[in-house]
Amino acid sequence: MASFKLLYASFTLLALLSSSSFTLGYPGFNFGWGHGGGGGGVSRPIGGPRFSGLSPAFYSHSCPQANDIIVSVLKSAISKDPRMAASLLRLHFHDCFVQGCDASVLLDDHPTFVSEKKSVPNKNSLRGFEVIDEIKAKLEQACPETVSCADILALAARGSTVLSGGPNWELPLGRRDSKKASLSGSNNNIPPPNSTIQNLVTFFRRQGLNEVDLVSLSGAHTLGMARCTTFKQRLYNQNGNNQPDSTLERSYYHDLKAVCPKTGGDNNVSPLDLASPVTFDNTYFKLILSGKGLLTSDQVLLSGNVGKPMQLVKDFADDRALFFNHFARSMVKMGNVHPLTGNKGEVRKNCRRVN
Ligand code: HEM
Ligand SMILES: *[C@@H]1O[C@H](CO)[C@@H](O)[C@H](O)[C@H]1NC(C)=O
Repeated sequence: MASFKLLYASFTLLALLSSSSFTLGYPGFNFGWGHGGGGGGVSRPIGGPRFSGLSPAFYSHSCPQANDIIVSVLKSAISKDPRMAASLLRLHFHDCFVQGCDASVLLDDHPTFVSEKKSVPNKNSLRGFEVIDEIKAKLEQACPETVSCADILALAARGSTVLSGGPNWELPLGRRDSKKASLSGSNNNIPPPNSTIQNLVTFFRRQGLNEVDLVSLSGAHTLGMARCTTFKQRLYNQNGNNQPDSTLERSYYHDLKAVCPKTGGDNNVSPLDLASPVTFDNTYFKLILSGKGLLTSDQVLLSGNVGKPMQLVKDFADDRALFFNHFARSMVKMGNVHPLTGNKGEVRKNCRRVN
């Protein structure tokens, strides 16, 4: 725990916001974990579902400037469009929950498969593909055929978090890119916004993630926006009785109805954290405590009356540092979900296409 506190408190600004000589996985730089008995510098992320085969030092010889290149593209993309940090963080999640973190989400249609971009959770929703293309183009110039699209997604998610004021973490790398996508996997494995708490726990467990991961990763909703269509049910017909969700705070309910009328306006958007939608902080949890979670899946972390999630929402609302520690740990864990390593998969030259 102490090492995590130290990690983001001391290194966030130094490591990512300045373009200092810090590079990923700098050999000999001990972040406080990952030296568990290996002795040979093999890093083992704590809490991962299983040994992932990834290592923070993966590009330290082949492309030491990878993270700096990514962060510089992120900075300009986020300054042009402040929502972009949120969109890129979400891309990594939608990648990892479908066939593992293998950049399947980035593939366009192919003669042998349909793009995941067409799934119900992704269609008219996922953003940021052009930013990933720009990063990939720059990395192909600097270090051809070296940095995978799956690692770009993981690094962009971390960079977006840090640039928004959130925690930093040591990130295991070396994922390779899939040669196929799964539309049905995308439709079936990404939890819907009207999930019950039991559904959410089940979707996360399927990925090897527990209730702590569920609550901490839901804290990503401290950033970004959601379309009316994803929360409309709560305003007009939550339980099939034409009544609003009783857990919605009254004035918030009225504000949301103005954004999201009963008919039409399905693509209107509302912030997931209405207090600070472009700052990574713990207000998301404070809002849930006051009945101002936007999605059913946000509010049920508390109102679902399941002990552990409920208590964690309160703990994270009380203690930003605790949330940051857990978010960092859970992001590493999510990033370790079923990566392709060794000679499985490939390093795509263009993230939208298999080579
Ligand atoms: C717990 C289950 C989750 C559900 C049900 C869920 C659902 C959603 C929905 C419905 C939206 C709005 C999409 C739209 O309007 O088109 C959204 C946005 C977002 N989600 Fe989640 N999500 C979950 C977990 C996560 C996780 C684990 C992360 C990342 C670690 C994440 C990051 C985001 C971000 C950053 C946005 C805003 C994106 C933007 O503004 O472009 N979500 N989520
Ligand atoms: C969630 O939304 C889907 C699609 O609108 C709907 O078919 C389903 O019945 C809803 N589930 C719950 C629990 O309300």
